[in-house]
Amino acid sequence: MSTFPTISEYWQHQGMSRRDFLQFCAMTAATMALPITMVSRIAAALENQARPATIWLNFQDCTGCTESMMRADAPSLERLLFDLISLDYHHTLQAAAGELAELARTQAMAANEGNYLLIVEGSIPMDHYATLAGRSGKDLLLEVAEGAQAIIAIGTCASYGGIARAYPNPTGAKSVGEWLTNDKPLINIPGCPPLPVAITGVIVHFLTFGEWPLLDNLQRPLAFFGRTVHDRCSRRAFYEKGLFASRFDDQGAKKGWCLYQLGCKGPFTYNACATTKWNDGVSFPMEAGHGCLGCSQPHFWDNDSFYRPLS
Ligand code: SF4
Ligand code: SF4
Ligand code: F3S
Repeated sequence: MSTFPTISEYWQHQGMSRRDFLQFCAMTAATMALPITMVSRIAAALENQARPATIWLNFQDCTGCTESMMRADAPSLERLLFDLISLDYHHTLQAAAGELAELARTQAMAANEGNYLLIVEGSIPMDHYATLAGRSGKDLLLEVAEGAQAIIAIGTCASYGGIARAYPNPTGAKSVGEWLTNDKPLINIPGCPPLPVAITGVIVHFLTFGEWPLLDNLQRPLAFFGRTVHDRCSRRAFYEKGLFASRFDDQGAKKGWCLYQLGCKGPFTYNACATTKWNDGVSFPMEAGHGCLGCSQPHFWDNDSFYRPLS
């Protein structure tokens, strides 16, 4: 349990200045498409709230979702996710192992019954592949979900099944939403990996307003998944003019022409990559020269070749 009563006190201890703190609040409001007047409300909420107890479970995953949030090397929305929550249990990051690790989980669950957040990374095997502490993944998830106040499925594996669920799905993998049938709020944040700012933004929204942001019919936050990457793509003007690269190294590609004929799935992929960008706003796939693979859409591994043009 954290010894710092509020999130802002914890951040001060970590060396964050008041200026950085307000910048974080402003950036979060911007990424959530909230009016500028909400910055002070976000700041007040983070100044008064404790870091929410969080249990993070990994199932059939590559750990890429966790890793994408640990890569940033400067103060950023990405880096701050792990400062925003009190991470009481995480298979990959915790120092404890074996019985001590399981004790940490059960103690955190008991101390925060009904109030902790459950973050899930990876799909859930329905058969006895990938047991954890001698338990099947599906039983462990049911147990931990029971005492959670909300469940956040991060990444395409947890949201839709991802690569483990690709045909022929040998483990019978399911998404979190397919396996859990309780009435707890479920927020899907797909992407392979997902945008770190989407996860941070969703948690800040909850801490500020006491409710989860608006979701679409696939349980995704509309602020990040309300539009396709094609809508805001830097190559969009060339798409409209019918100027398409036909090879990754032709003159069109070098001039920034549209990558549609090289298999870009941007027109059918809902995500905020083109607006928030990656790596502290440096770039996103189409700006870097590669088409969108559709990594935040269901069944993207099963949708034929990544390089076959959409019809
Ligand atoms: Fe890895 Fe992608 Fe699955 Fe995340 S969604 S665990 S990055 S395969
Ligand atoms: Fe749309 Fe892809 Fe072309 Fe960008 S590169 S404009 S996302 S089809
Ligand atoms: Fe994924 Fe497409 Fe964004 S491949 S990272 S949703 S541009």
